[in-house]
Amino acid sequence: MSYYTVLGLAKEPFSTSPDPKFFFRSSSHVQALTRLEIAIRLQRGLSVILGEVGTGKTTLARTLLAEVPQDARLAFHIVLNPTFDSEYQFLFHLSRLFGIRGQLKSTLDCREAIEHHLFQQGVTQGATTVLIIDEGQKLSVDMLETLRMLLNYETNESKLLQVVIFAQMELLARLKRLRNFLDRAAFKYLLNPLSEAETAELVEFRLRAAGLPAGRRLFSDEAVRAIYRSTQGYPRQITLLCHQALERMVMDHLPLADEALVNNLIQAEARWTHEAVA
Ligand SMILES: Nc1ncnc2c1ncn2[C@@H]1O[C@H](COP(=O)(O)OP(=O)(O)OP(=O)(O)O)[C@@H](O)[C@H]1O
Ligand SMILES: [Mg+2]
Repeated sequence: MSYYTVLGLAKEPFSTSPDPKFFFRSSSHVQALTRLEIAIRLQRGLSVILGEVGTGKTTLARTLLAEVPQDARLAFHIVLNPTFDSEYQFLFHLSRLFGIRGQLKSTLDCREAIEHHLFQQGVTQGATTVLIIDEGQKLSVDMLETLRMLLNYETNESKLLQVVIFAQMELLARLKRLRNFLDRAAFKYLLNPLSEAETAELVEFRLRAAGLPAGRRLFSDEAVRAIYRSTQGYPRQITLLCHQALERMVMDHLPLADEALVNNLIQAEARWTHEAVA
């Protein structure tokens, strides 16, 4: 029997994987999703979503993929880890991702094939090609230049390739150095951590999504406040702390996580970090 069934849950509520089923729609996440979808549908070209570590970028990217592509006129492609040794490797990867076959022996071959593919898709088939790049902070200046070149493919009305970059804040400095790159972004968004109220809503939402019966509570209000104070609303931190709290409840046969339990966990974590650093 898994630990969560002991608590009356059907699923693991605080897994750290970016599962869209556990995606809590904070106003910031909803705004990002809606505006992204609009930018994509209007074929505006480039969108950039920045956020600090663990704010929910990958979860947002997966939710976008899970929700929008019901539409046959949108072809989504995702690059989860944009680390490539050369421009050729990057372009070759994109070509295959777009479903381009045949021999591609040079960067020029790849560029021509991609341009042809994008025209074919966009103009002949009326489909929009969307390239989502996660972990965008790993994009080198050269790769950003390559993307800029791909974003140049356009008709009189629209861009042929829609690029959505999700990245940690460190990408910003690189983007600023490439001035004409950021100028092209039709949609720029900063994903902030959650407020205290949203933190409480996220915890509640994930417990319900995991099957917690109505009326049953696992965290006291004070416990949730302690979670917010410690995590400052960063979803990954919230998820990790809640998971530890549930584990402790099961081990100690407790029906509710209260403030003392959460504070104990926070202190244990602080001690661990202190000892590990010392
Ligand atoms: N809106 C949300 N609703 C519910 N859980 C979320 C939400 N956003 C993030 N999380 C949770 O927080 C954790 C981290 O999210 P995610 O991996 O998407 O962050 P990230 O910004 O991509 O992090 P990194 O900068 O390390 O790539 C995951 O466990 C995810 O389930
Ligand atoms: Mg991520």
